[in-house]
Amino acid sequence: MKLTPRLQAIADKVPPGSRVADIGTDHAYIPVYLLLNRLSPNVIATDSRPGPLQAAQETLELFSLSQTAELRLGDGLSVLREEDNIDVIIIAGMGGETICSILEAGLPLLKKNTLLVLQPMTCVDWVRTWLADNKFSLVQEDIAQEEDRYYEVIVARWSGKLSLASEKYLTIGPDLVACRHPLLKPMLQQRLERKEAALAGAGGANSPAAKNRILELEKEILLLREVIAWL
Ligand SMILES: C[S@@+](CC[C@H](N)C(=O)[O-])C[C@H]1O[C@@H](n2cnc3c(N)ncnc32)[C@H](O)[C@@H]1O
Repeated sequence: MKLTPRLQAIADKVPPGSRVADIGTDHAYIPVYLLLNRLSPNVIATDSRPGPLQAAQETLELFSLSQTAELRLGDGLSVLREEDNIDVIIIAGMGGETICSILEAGLPLLKKNTLLVLQPMTCVDWVRTWLADNKFSLVQEDIAQEEDRYYEVIVARWSGKLSLASEKYLTIGPDLVACRHPLLKPMLQQRLERKEAALAGAGGANSPAAKNRILELEKEILLLREVIAWL
C-alpha cells in the first residue's frame, strides 16, 4: 500500500512496535499501512461518525486486517481507556480547532508518556499554542507537500514543563525553523504571498476591526520576511 506524502509523513512518526490509536481514522489508511508493514502490533481506529467507520471497516476487510485493528465509534479520546496502553495517538486531517478541543477533553489521558502525532489542516499555530500552554514539548515537526499544498505534522509529548520555545515562532514552527526544514522556505514564501495579497486587498478599509487586521497582517509579514531571509 502506497500512502500519499501527507499520510506517509504521519505514519513515519510512529516508532516501530507502538500501540497506536488513530482518532478520526475515516478510511483507515494509516492503520492499514502500520499493520501491513508490521510497524504496530495492533491499532485502535476511531471515528465520531458511523459512515467513516464503515469505510474504515471496508478497507480493513480488503486487506484482511479486521482481526488486528479494533474499530470504535465515538468522540475524540473518550473512546480510549487507560488499559488500552496506547503509546501513540494520531489525530490527523482535521482543523486545528477540532484537534485542540479533542486534546483538551482528553487531557488526563495524555499526561503520561503518550506520543502525539498531530496533523492539523488549519490553525496549526493554535495547536502549537495549546501544546505549549498545557506543558507539552515538541519532539519533532515535519512538512509534507502534495502539489502546491503544504501539510505540517507536529509530534509532541507531555513533559509537565513550560516550553522554552520562543512564542513568536509558534505560528511558524520552532522545530521547523531550528532544523531549517527544506520545505519551510517554500511554504513560508507561499504564506507570505497570500498575506501580502490580503494586505493589498484590505488597504481601503477603515473600521476598527479592519485596522486591527491590517496591523496583524503587517506583523505577520514582517516575521515571515525575517525568517525567510534567515533560511
Ligand atoms: C478529513 S477526515 C481525516 C481522515 C484521516 N485521519 C486523514 O488524516 O486522512 C476527518 C475525520 O475525522 C472525524 N472526526 C471529526 N471530529 C472528530 C472527533 N471529535 N472525534 C473523532 N473523529 C472525528 C471525521 O468524522 C472524519 O472522518
